[in-house]
Amino acid sequence: MISEALQRARDFEKTHIPLVAEELPKFHVTGGVGWINDPNGFALYQGEYHLFYQYYPYETKWGPMHWGHVKTKDFIHWERIPAALAPDCAFDKDGCFSGGAVEMPDGRHLLMYTGVRTECRENGETETVQTQCIAIGDGVNYEKYAGNPVIGSEAVPEGGSTTDFRDPHIWREDGRYYVVVGNRPADGSGAILLYQSEDAIHWEFVSQLDACRNEYGKMWECPDFFPLDGQHVLLVSPQDMQAIGREFHPGNANVCILGTYDRERHQLLREHIQAIDYGLDFYAPQTLETMDGRRVMIGWMQNWETSGHVPAGQRFMGQMTIPRELTIRNGRLCQNPVRELEGCRGAKAAHQNVLVTGETSLEGVWGRFLDLTVTVRPEEGAELYRWFQIDVARDGERKTSIRFTPADCLICVDRTQSGLSWDMLHVREFPVSAGAESGQLKLQLILDQYSLEIFVNDGEQAASNVIYTPLEAQDICFSCGGAARVDVEQYVLEVD
Ligand code: FRU
Repeated sequence: MISEALQRARDFEKTHIPLVAEELPKFHVTGGVGWINDPNGFALYQGEYHLFYQYYPYETKWGPMHWGHVKTKDFIHWERIPAALAPDCAFDKDGCFSGGAVEMPDGRHLLMYTGVRTECRENGETETVQTQCIAIGDGVNYEKYAGNPVIGSEAVPEGGSTTDFRDPHIWREDGRYYVVVGNRPADGSGAILLYQSEDAIHWEFVSQLDACRNEYGKMWECPDFFPLDGQHVLLVSPQDMQAIGREFHPGNANVCILGTYDRERHQLLREHIQAIDYGLDFYAPQTLETMDGRRVMIGWMQNWETSGHVPAGQRFMGQMTIPRELTIRNGRLCQNPVRELEGCRGAKAAHQNVLVTGETSLEGVWGRFLDLTVTVRPEEGAELYRWFQIDVARDGERKTSIRFTPADCLICVDRTQSGLSWDMLHVREFPVSAGAESGQLKLQLILDQYSLEIFVNDGEQAASNVIYTPLEAQDICFSCGGAARVDVEQYVLEVD
């Protein structure tokens, strides 16, 4: 049964998405029209990778949350599927918030999401209640379970908030379903709760997998939990983070915890904590395991602080990162663009061992749909350079710059002059891991119409940034305070 609210969204998509198609990024997922935030239900289903997202089709701002839907075979070409969920039941009347998806043993597709409802108390106060709900379908149409919620307020451990109880991430293991859910425990910060079930309908609380204890922000949103390269990884997106050095920026941040999963006590024993992404725009990532065993992550490439500013005339707001393959190297989470992106490599321009002193541009190195790798090293016999900079999407007035200063091992991304008309959150600095003080650095830049994603030293770090620079700004320029040598390899990305 398709409700009136869902049918309205689907009708709206049919008439409006074709109007916007030309304005969209080439290989980054958007809603096609309207607003999107978190990725949802990113999982394999019957041989294809499905991705849902927080979605409000009617405006370019957040509104009553629906789930939009796309699917792909290669993480580059995405097929649009009609919206999957609308807030149309008593248990989710104020929003179908984030969640996950899993293939059931009988071949059906199960979505688990947070149903949000506001209730009026006897004393006249209103209270928001968040519970976990399911909907089951065939990859296109989904029927919400009549007995929703399947994890209600009574299943929150003592002292936990029933208002901040959201973003279930579900998986199957050893014949059972498991789900991790974000919650605000009695100390007012964040915790990740683990539940298990035989049938995805009757759930039992298992443990508090990990908790923030006011150390890394407050409420932990959008958890994901999975094994990787012999360890376990917990990804969370904390609200109200305080900066910690240059590793974690304030506000809505992102945290990766690597550790060992104690399967008896169902707790994550922490071994290493780091940011997931160091850019201006990254939140609420989800992962899946591919058919050939890779762990692939996708995140919302936006931040809540600047999400209210939509460039004049733009008819969509919000996009996803390029999907990224995750690995653990030297005890750190590493990420690289999915290898399928290499299949889009077209015309090549390459330059070896170029001396950069002042401003330098290189033949054939320019454009806005690019995969550009730059390897920098100090000039032999010269003093270590003070800084090295790459400007992209540049013309006489506009540019976005990436500046590396080896003395303090920092990379600074600055989009102040990228063509924006508001003044907030345009610069982010982050530390490059050890070794960079020698002046050796490798950067891979992925440019699409509205974004610049940076991968440092073969994926040791990533930094995702939205830019709204008009497409005419196509120049790329290298400059150096001192003298450096560079190798440059550029491919134009062609996505049909
Ligand atoms: C994170 C988040 C989630 C919530 C969703 C609502 O960006 O706040 O916690 O489920 O967005 O759209």
